[in-house]
Amino acid sequence: MPLVNLNCVLEKAHKERYAVGAFDTWNIESVRTVIAAAEESCSPVIVQAYTERIRHTDIEYYSAIGKVAAENSKIPVVLHLDHGDNLRIVMQSIRQGFTSVSIENPGLTFQQYVDFTKKVVEVAHSTDVSVEAELGEVPRVREGVTEPRHETMTDPKEASRFVAETGIDALAISVGTVSGLHEGIKEAKVDFDRLRKIRNSASVPLVLHGGTALTSADVKKAIGLGVCKINIGTALHLPFIEGIIRLVKNSPENVDLFKIHRVDRVVQEEAKTIIKNLMKLYGCSDKAAAYNFFAV
Ligand code: 13P
Repeated sequence: MPLVNLNCVLEKAHKERYAVGAFDTWNIESVRTVIAAAEESCSPVIVQAYTERIRHTDIEYYSAIGKVAAENSKIPVVLHLDHGDNLRIVMQSIRQGFTSVSIENPGLTFQQYVDFTKKVVEVAHSTDVSVEAELGEVPRVREGVTEPRHETMTDPKEASRFVAETGIDALAISVGTVSGLHEGIKEAKVDFDRLRKIRNSASVPLVLHGGTALTSADVKKAIGLGVCKINIGTALHLPFIEGIIRLVKNSPENVDLFKIHRVDRVVQEEAKTIIKNLMKLYGCSDKAAAYNFFAV
């Protein structure tokens, strides 16, 4: 079926208290793996393209991959730009057929960021594209941070104003998660009190970045407090990369243009299992059939 936007999948998740997994992808294989796992789980899914990644892969090509993969599947698929950190890439994604974009503050004051977001929302909504905006900042391991930063966490009072003034569809919040954390480093520590206050002041679906290091118990608690989109990157990248290294080392005969697909296949199956387990945990498995689709 054709791609759908974020509202098509999050509205129901918000009402029924479950979360939809949003998985960072980087090439044809990863897009197909995420969609295949969603189909096997009968789950809606958000396929994300990380801004930094698609700077190196023409957006037009990426969008074509997403569209074809969605059209060949029977479940609702959102094609979402993750971490839209500049206006040019956000607008290009909208023009090229992404059905959802996320933006983050490129260093503006609160009021400037409100105005910037309103402009993006106006353009995006005119073509039925949804907008997720981050308020505060989720730190990243890649930038050398492994601890939550109190000073960049989302302020619940600002969240209320921001949502009301901008008209965004989903709010990405900073409540203690760190993007890129994983088992080998440490678990995320969520400030549930802050999350509760944000939920009470902002009525839109909430988004958690840095999903890899969340414990199962925290995922459930966060979903109970209004989180209905969870972003996953590391939990997918790592097994793909480590799997390829392991398999190539164990069977060097597969390092051959006509045999390398054997490696891809094993890695994709392993990644599918990870995604399917996450979908079960988020409560979105078996939800695809119940959607009313409004294809965009
Ligand atoms: P993780 O890599 O920690 O799962 O975070 C991914 C993310 O937040 C992408 O937006």
